Amino acid sequence: MSDPLPSTLASRARSALAGQHVLVCGASGNLGGHLARQLASLGVSLTLWGRKADALDRLAADCRSTPGTAVTTRCVDIADITAALAALRESDDAGPFDAAFLVAGAGDTRETGRRFESAELVARLGLVNYVGPAALAAELGERMAARGAGRIVLVGSAAASHPLPFAAAYSSSKCGLSLFAESLRLALKPHGVSVTLASPGFFAAAAQGTHAYARPGEIAPERVAQAIIGAATAGRSEVVTPRWFLLLRWLGAALPRPLRDRLLRALPVP
Ligand SMILES: NC(=O)c1ccc[n+]([C@@H]2O[C@H](COP(=O)([O-])OP(=O)(O)OC[C@H]3O[C@@H](n4cnc5c(N)ncnc54)[C@H](OP(=O)(O)O)[C@@H]3O)[C@@H](O)[C@H]2O)c1
Repeated sequence: MSDPLPSTLASRARSALAGQHVLVCGASGNLGGHLARQLASLGVSLTLWGRKADALDRLAADCRSTPGTAVTTRCVDIADITAALAALRESDDAGPFDAAFLVAGAGDTRETGRRFESAELVARLGLVNYVGPAALAAELGERMAARGAGRIVLVGSAAASHPLPFAAAYSSSKCGLSLFAESLRLALKPHGVSVTLASPGFFAAAAQGTHAYARPGEIAPERVAQAIIGAATAGRSEVVTPRWFLLLRWLGAALPRPLRDRLLRALPVP
């Protein structure tokens, strides 16, 4: 298994997480897979969720190559909120989660030939990027608070700060999730539960050449996973990768609206 953590981070993360039961929802994907492999190297007990059983099985085998790492997998569709909550309650009753990385999400943009995204796309991204992760975090947060400890990581996006005209459903669903994460963090902090929002900019796809459009500031997903584990174990409220994307957030808020609108309209449609 090759997905090493830098040694300083590894020793800090190991002392925070070793022996703990950790959920990775969206483990079958690119970032989720890197997170799972890096967490496995810390000696945690992993529960991996996704929809593709074969991808989960391959990842589980990889994670088990770290001696002593227990791994269970489960196919869960978080767009089916009732079923996803039932799965969460059943897993948490059987072996309480100490930490959860809610990574699952979808990044689709406006369909070809349309002026705006379809109603179906808006509904699907709302469910997968906001309603599902927020509902899971609410349930887990309440349970962890009752136990007096826990860590929750919600993976949003740097796009949450920008009203992208070709990705309204994506940017607004991630914006909703980031506000939710802030509220959850404030509510749960007094009960020993930390909530970390990850707001990544672009990271490289698992398959070479998947993206045909420019992706400024793109970094390796391994680095994003490392930054997320570092922020979660330090109990930080947010991690932005790369850090200079914070400047874009600031610019988006500071520019006069007519100028900001012109820049946003000039962005190339992916
Ligand atoms: N890629 C980027 O540059 C970028 C930038 C900023 C933020 N992000 C965010 O980072 C996260 C991971 O992105 P990624 O690029 O690693 O994506 P990815 O490779 O496409 O993986 C997405 C993961 O989400 C899961 N998922 C999607 N819909 C689901 C559903 N209805 N129920 C359960 N699981 C579902 C997928 O499961 P299956 O594959 O098994 O269906 C997969 O495990 C996402 O939240 C994304 O929005 C990505």
